[in-house]
Amino acid sequence: MKDPISLTTDFVELYQEIRTCEACFLHKTRKNAVPGEGPQDAQVMFIGEAPGLNEDREGRPFVGRSGSFLEELIVAAGLKRSEVYICNVLKCRPPDNREPLPVEINSCSDFVGRQIQLIDPFVIVTLGRHSMRRFFPDATISRIHGQPKTVEGRLIVPMYHPAAALHRGNLKATILDDFAKLPGFIDRVRSLRQGEEVLENSKTNPVLKPRQLDLFEE
Ligand code: URA
Repeated sequence: MKDPISLTTDFVELYQEIRTCEACFLHKTRKNAVPGEGPQDAQVMFIGEAPGLNEDREGRPFVGRSGSFLEELIVAAGLKRSEVYICNVLKCRPPDNREPLPVEINSCSDFVGRQIQLIDPFVIVTLGRHSMRRFFPDATISRIHGQPKTVEGRLIVPMYHPAAALHRGNLKATILDDFAKLPGFIDRVRSLRQGEEVLENSKTNPVLKPRQLDLFEE
């Protein structure tokens, strides 16, 4: 069970809270809670559904078959697993991998919110319906997959769950197409945030203004 290196105290405390959480019944059947993993400065955050058997055993997200496929998709998009943050809507495995219950999703909701705050990613990719509903409660995944929405200065991109693509072969091309858009989405938010930073600097430090203009002079 490896935590991301150089975690801030806030993160260490959050992981500790998740690992000892007894807010719903799932704590009674878990072997390990699965907080999430990845660097704290990740630009992309994936939010899956819930730990399965392997994840429960290892205390790490997406280590089974879906995990291998997710990693394949991440690499196909030109990224590395080690540079993205991966977590789930539920931090504990539902028995027999049943669907998460609303009460369980509610119990973990604050944990997910705090992870988003601490990572502050450019792009959040929701994997599957349960994760999508945190941001798009009434949407249907087949209608909105791959289409980003700006929420609080970042893009939220709903995507199919990798397990769905493994079971329904015709979804593989769709999910690959959606992942291929990720680098463009990251660039879009990076430019937006850089623009905001320049604007902010020019407000607080007017001396910068003429210097920036100088850059464009012959
Ligand atoms: N493994 C996870 O960690 N999450 C999922 O949603 C599926 C498999």
